Amino acid sequence: MEKILIVGPASQILGVKIAQELSIEAINTEIKKFPDGENYLRINLEDETIIADKKVIIIQSTGPSSSGNQNSRLMELFMIIDSVKRMGAAKIVIVVPYLAYARQDKIFRPGESQFANVIFRILNSFGLDELYTVDIHAPEIMDECACKAVNIDSMKLLADYIKSKGAKDIVVVSPDKGATDRSKTFANHFGENIPIEIFDKERDVKTGEIQMSGALNLKGKDVVISDDIIATGGTMATAIKLAKESGANKIFAVATHALLLGQAKFRILKAGADEIIGTDSIDNEVCQVSLAKIIADYLK
Ligand code: R5P
Repeated sequence: MEKILIVGPASQILGVKIAQELSIEAINTEIKKFPDGENYLRINLEDETIIADKKVIIIQSTGPSSSGNQNSRLMELFMIIDSVKRMGAAKIVIVVPYLAYARQDKIFRPGESQFANVIFRILNSFGLDELYTVDIHAPEIMDECACKAVNIDSMKLLADYIKSKGAKDIVVVSPDKGATDRSKTFANHFGENIPIEIFDKERDVKTGEIQMSGALNLKGKDVVISDDIIATGGTMATAIKLAKESGANKIFAVATHALLLGQAKFRILKAGADEIIGTDSIDNEVCQVSLAKIIADYLK
């Protein structure tokens, strides 16, 4: 079946790269806000029949950026899906490298919404055929998806990048217990018998403040601190400070999704990171590692 790629406004660079990998046509969208704040989106085509009977792949990340917050990005995604469905797509495949609200998968305090599940329920209502995301915060949540759902692992790409920087005698540090599996995967991709150390992190569910502890022996080691998301940078900066106190040499702050909100870059670099490394799930200046090929391989 012929494929066509719709590149959402949040994934323009990654979208074009994936289209090139797949040698298929990429179509972009135009967006605006109505005076009352509602989102408007139109797929940039004049002839609706080019969608009919095709396998339509939609790429739209849903992380916050200066041009749209998570809610707008999700609305845009829903609008693209609705449009291609209405135009008669035979199959609809969505690629959402960063899935917003994925961290709201548990109830921590009475009265909270388990909104990650709601996002999947909304997506399920469209009758999708396939969904791809990357290093989702809690992979178990993918069970909520009614269609084929794939959580792509970017750890090999990130490990290869760190290797290319000449890091050898490394220790992988997980900033909390939740990141342990991803850190193990990173270490396995990096090489044999790479040590993994885990810090203890507690987040105050009311204030969001974090406490981290752990006395590790990192004397003279190059340290990779790997996490799924860098948001405010609080977790990463605190882990870097502890790693420095434990004698670390070089420190690579690695995350699949480097949202880098507010002062995050400053906090992380000031804490002592030599480099911040992310993927292009989020389009910003630290996205040295491209997901284009690995995503395209899944879509072939
Ligand atoms: C939390 O469990 C996540 O894995 C990340 O550690 C967290 O989202 C990072 O957030 P921040 O950068 O605001 O500390």
